[in-house]
Amino acid sequence: MDGNGRWAQAKGLLRIMGHREGVKTVRNIVEAAKACDVKILTLYAFSTENWNRPKDEVSGLMGLLKKFLQSELTRMVENDIQLRCIGNIHALPKDVRDVLAATIDQTKDNTSLILNLALSYGGRNELIQAIQTMAQKCLAGTLAVGAIDEQTVGAHLFTAGLPDPDLVIRTGGERRLSNFLLWQSSYSEIYFCDVPWPEFNKAELKKAIADFSGRQRRYGKTGEQVSP
Ligand code: IPE
Ligand code: MG
Repeated sequence: MDGNGRWAQAKGLLRIMGHREGVKTVRNIVEAAKACDVKILTLYAFSTENWNRPKDEVSGLMGLLKKFLQSELTRMVENDIQLRCIGNIHALPKDVRDVLAATIDQTKDNTSLILNLALSYGGRNELIQAIQTMAQKCLAGTLAVGAIDEQTVGAHLFTAGLPDPDLVIRTGGERRLSNFLLWQSSYSEIYFCDVPWPEFNKAELKKAIADFSGRQRRYGKTGEQVSP
């Protein structure tokens, strides 16, 4: 979800106004994704690197996150949406963690859509903590070094139990992954879109999905092998 700040600045507004508008897009896109039969939607809301932003922008974002979780709980319950999160969650302020935990608990049995929020998330940080946990298990003798395979690594990531993303969409015009799901996106289709997040909508989401549907996923094989 990129482009909030630049969207606001281009209009002569404060960056936080862009984030506020971005929250509205989140609401619309969650609904649109469900209508498009998306089963898992991961939103990159705050990265490990975002902690380095000016203090007031960080606290503004934390406030918006808390307000979003509080105001969306009823809607998530009504719409059968299960909230999850990935990231270095203990870095979040205690009040945000508390609302987050409560929302996750109260939506845990919902099945129509998994809304996965990446908060204080970084792909490298995720891999480091996975490596540390696996190394500890090796030292303790509960994991054999030679037994570490793709499944083992996947099971130690924040996304354990979730499939890899089929499609990664980045709004806002930049063409990079910025530390997002580095391991999991090895074979994801990537879609870059110039529309800033506050202006992203259902029609743009449908465009991205249509583009994705027209692609041939070969996973290293030849086109003939995949569709003879
Ligand atoms: C994305 O918008 C939202 C967050 C990172 C929280 P940005 O804040 O990165 O917007 P730009 O890139 O400055 O326009
Ligand atoms: Mg940005």
